Amino acid sequence: GLPARVRIHEVGARDGLQNEKTAVPTAVKAEFVRRLAAAGLTTVEATSFVHPKWVPQLADAEELFPQLKGLTGVHLPVLVPNERGLDRALALGADRIAVFGSATETFASRNLNRTVAESLAMFEPVVARAKEGGAHVRGYLSMCFGDPWEGPVPVHQVVRVAKALLDLGCDELSLGDTIGVATPGHVRALLSSLNDEGVTTDRIGVHFHDTYGQALSNTLAALRHGVTTVDASAGGLGGCPYAKSATGNLATEDLVWMLDGLGIETGVDLAALTATSVWMAEQLGRPSPSRTVRALSHK
Ligand code: HMG
Ligand code: MG
Repeated sequence: GLPARVRIHEVGARDGLQNEKTAVPTAVKAEFVRRLAAAGLTTVEATSFVHPKWVPQLADAEELFPQLKGLTGVHLPVLVPNERGLDRALALGADRIAVFGSATETFASRNLNRTVAESLAMFEPVVARAKEGGAHVRGYLSMCFGDPWEGPVPVHQVVRVAKALLDLGCDELSLGDTIGVATPGHVRALLSSLNDEGVTTDRIGVHFHDTYGQALSNTLAALRHGVTTVDASAGGLGGCPYAKSATGNLATEDLVWMLDGLGIETGVDLAALTATSVWMAEQLGRPSPSRTVRALSHK
């Protein structure tokens, strides 16, 4: 069967904008987050407290985050790679953070300048301190299906790092198909292996990029497996500056269109969300790649 309700973890303001060539003004980002929350999204990842030279597009986190203070009814998680990032996030009152690990050595090195083991060691005090302070911690795991340098990633390798992230104390795990090469059978195989190793589905979210147009099919496979947390990006924005061939995330509109059709509740107003993505596309100067945004906005 399928779940009655899905929680959408909206990543447009973070995963979407981290890869933009044009500099997006802080006020536009704040307006984007506000509009996403107003459209009914209850988790809107706001920004990253990473090294500003590594991701210049999000270097304004200190200015942006306080502008979101007044928002109610929405969680605003932020990415934090290390204790320096945690200090910055906690100083501004962040209460949901995400660390982000890699299933492959090459991406760990390119994205975090660490080996997989070193990055887990870097996250350990971050997760511990965040949990002590009562924050909710998400653990992203990138390259769960394929890696642009290493090719297909063996399931057992993914399961090992996934368990290590949960063992650090992460409340939830988000399985990242960073470059969008997953297919539904692979999704099922990974979820089954995680279950076999004691990772229950209620702690697992899925994070698909749509490079090969498989993101929705992969999502449906995950829903059939019992997953109820799905990451998506308004308008299909997104990519990773440290993974060549990473394209946009599953578009939130494409996801909501499918879930609405299945009678699965999300609390999201599709018209308001589409209007937000059309507005954001105008700010960025190019059309949204989302098929649903295009269909609904050309009526
Ligand atoms: P490093 O160069 O090894 O840093 O980078 P370091 O630890 O050697 O520190 C060097 C200097 O940077 C120090 O300053 C630190 O204080 C400073 P100094 O003492 O020399 O003056 N520094 C910082 N400053 C501000 N904020 C910080 C910070 N950390 C250190 N947080 C580091 C290591 C992790 C910092 C770097 O590699 C980094 O920032 N990486 C982030 C990359 C990133 O954000 N990638 C995109 C997100 S992941 C993604 O998109 C995938 C996902 O969507 C899921 C999927 O699709 O798979 C989540
Ligand atoms: Mg991503």
